[in-house]
Amino acid sequence: MRLSHALIERNAPLMLVLTLLTVAIGGLVEIIPLFTIETTVEKVEGTRPYSPLELAGRDIYIREGCYLCHSQQIRPFRDEVERYGHYSIAAESKYDHPFQWGSKRTGPDLARVGGKYSNEWHVAHLIDPQAQVPGSVMPPYAFLADRALTVPNVKANLIANRRVGVPYSDEMIAAAVKDLADQADPEADTADLLKRYPRAVVADFDGNPKKLTEMDALVAYLQLLGTLIDFNSLTAEDLKQ
Ligand code: HEC
Repeated sequence: MRLSHALIERNAPLMLVLTLLTVAIGGLVEIIPLFTIETTVEKVEGTRPYSPLELAGRDIYIREGCYLCHSQQIRPFRDEVERYGHYSIAAESKYDHPFQWGSKRTGPDLARVGGKYSNEWHVAHLIDPQAQVPGSVMPPYAFLADRALTVPNVKANLIANRRVGVPYSDEMIAAAVKDLADQADPEADTADLLKRYPRAVVADFDGNPKKLTEMDALVAYLQLLGTLIDFNSLTAEDLKQ
């Protein structure tokens, strides 16, 4: 026994191979079961893919680097839950590619910011954060209200997400261009849109009915965050993961 151990310790390549083998076994034991159980991410009532406008807003959120100051993951600790609401569960970010959990909180967590403020508040805050929250160190994003929302290919956005597992139906893809515009138009007939995307907030978010702006998209996205799952109706079993 001693001899063979001495052999391993004095033979670096052999030690490397055996180390890798040991680590690989450990890794496989942890990873393989995840592929065989169906419920690695629990199915939870209420989750749905983003509407085309929310998806465009999410792209602006990523483009502007909001995630550098804001997390979207409420940890299961009492102080966090009391401040932000129910802790985040995996199913809530299963349609996020890439997910926006973040790792830095210069500003508050945004996982449940949807419905916390009015659309007007969000627009005023994004235009001039200090005017809403004196002393805020958040930079202003007033230009979003001037910039027309240009999504080069709305359908392609949905199709790309479908390729990585988001269940966009053919119907959703066919209606994507119309849905994108309709969600920011309170005059539009949005019955079908709301069937496709329950709980979507329909509004002229930026208060400028003449123009569909990046502000409209970003606020539509913010107003959705954390609103899809009704946590009061879930049992402990649903939340176990
Ligand atoms: C430099 C860091 C920083 C960046 C970048 C940043 N924020 Fe903030 N944000 C803050 C801080 C600090 C606050 C808290 C003070 C306030 O409300 O302005 C905040 C607050 C907020 C709030 C209110 C949250 C609440 O629960 O009260 C929202 C919504 C928000 N930010 C959205 C955004 C969006 C969207 C972006 C990207 C376009 C963004 N932020 C970029 C720092 C930042």
